Amino acid sequence: MKPSMSLKTQNLALLLLFVIANFLSYYHCEAADEDSSKLGASFIFGDSLVDAGNNNYLPTLSRANIPPNGIDFKSSGGNPTGRYTNGRTIGDIVGEELGQPNYAIPFLAPNATGKAILYGVNYASGGGGILNATGRIFVNRLGMDIQIDYFNITRKEFDKLLGPSKARDYIMKQSIFSITVGANDFLNNYLLPVLSVGARITQSPDAFIDDMLNHLRGQLTRLYQLDARKFVIGNVGPIGCIPYQKTINQLKENECVGLANKLAVQYNGRLKDLLAELNDNLPGATFLHANVFDLVMELITNYDKYGFTTATRACCGNGGQFAGIIPCGPTSSMCQDRSKHVFWDPYHPSEAANLLLAKQLLDGDKRYISPVNLRQLRDL
Ligand SMILES: *[C@@H]1O[C@H](CO)[C@@H](O)[C@H](O)[C@H]1NC(C)=O
Ligand SMILES: *[C@@H]1O[C@H](CO)[C@@H](O)[C@H](O)[C@H]1NC(C)=O
Ligand SMILES: *[C@@H]1O[C@H](CO)[C@@H](O)[C@H](O)[C@H]1NC(C)=O
Repeated sequence: MKPSMSLKTQNLALLLLFVIANFLSYYHCEAADEDSSKLGASFIFGDSLVDAGNNNYLPTLSRANIPPNGIDFKSSGGNPTGRYTNGRTIGDIVGEELGQPNYAIPFLAPNATGKAILYGVNYASGGGGILNATGRIFVNRLGMDIQIDYFNITRKEFDKLLGPSKARDYIMKQSIFSITVGANDFLNNYLLPVLSVGARITQSPDAFIDDMLNHLRGQLTRLYQLDARKFVIGNVGPIGCIPYQKTINQLKENECVGLANKLAVQYNGRLKDLLAELNDNLPGATFLHANVFDLVMELITNYDKYGFTTATRACCGNGGQFAGIIPCGPTSSMCQDRSKHVFWDPYHPSEAANLLLAKQLLDGDKRYISPVNLRQLRDL
């Protein structure tokens, strides 16, 4: 009788200990390790396609914190946030779909401190590119080198918040690093009239693209050194088909600018090789290739199939036959039905287009996202 009593007490003590330990670890870590089916942190790098407000804090000519930008963004009540679209960016939608309760917070926002960063941080900046010189026409913007310097600061914050060992695990296994960059290196660098003439004379397209990819290799490797393991890299979209390019080149409805698209295709082919190389050479890392070019081209070509009425005219903008010259702002004309335009402004997709693009990246097949899709990447 006595031994069995003591066994029972022992079991009870063990059970209690187990309950207390679970209770403590649950309340201690909160976002850090509750539900492994949800994404931990989303770290977003790139340009205006995914900027969630960093440029609001820079002295720059590239800003989207003016109405009617953000008019369909629910959590701001339709007020502008610095996003270059009418609603959510692809980065916002992907974060939501992968189970995040908050959008990744802009690095330069004053409230990007303490536990708020555990869901992720957004470093993207309108006008930014792979190369440092890209976007200098805007006076200020964060290029990729600086965005990664900033992640290095965040990385140290995670050590403080979670402790070094848990932080490393959280960043390696439960975090996704998305990089959407490259379009500005062409649009606001190589192809820019006047500023780029020198570069275009001294550098062939091949040499310029080489330069871009060598920098990108270095940048992705730095992120790997800081414990990033799950990556998704977008290729450059059909920049010859955006309302801005079609307007300034005075093209017809169904035409696109040949040189701009040719440069994008050339870069994209080489990007695919780079990602294959990194998948082979960086142990434990997975680099997804997001085929933004083919995805956006599909929306532009078959726009009516997806419920759009135009893939050429910006919803918000002014100038020329496609409202493609002056960026969206308070004095712009705005379309009647924002969900019927592929393009929100002269450069950027509408939220309606972003929803379709995000859906394919999350759940699509190898035509658009490979070797696995984003939902599979999270669950790796
Ligand atoms: C940070 O501040 C912005 C702007 O005031 C607000 O919209 C956002 O919800 C805040 N985010 C967090 C995580 O506190
Ligand atoms: C780009 O700028 C960053 C930050 O200012 C600097 O560390 C880096 O060396 C620069 N790269 C080049 C190629 O100039
Ligand atoms: C991160 O910052 C530290 C200095 O705080 C520096 O020594 C290290 O090289 C940086 N790492 C990367 C990958 O940039």
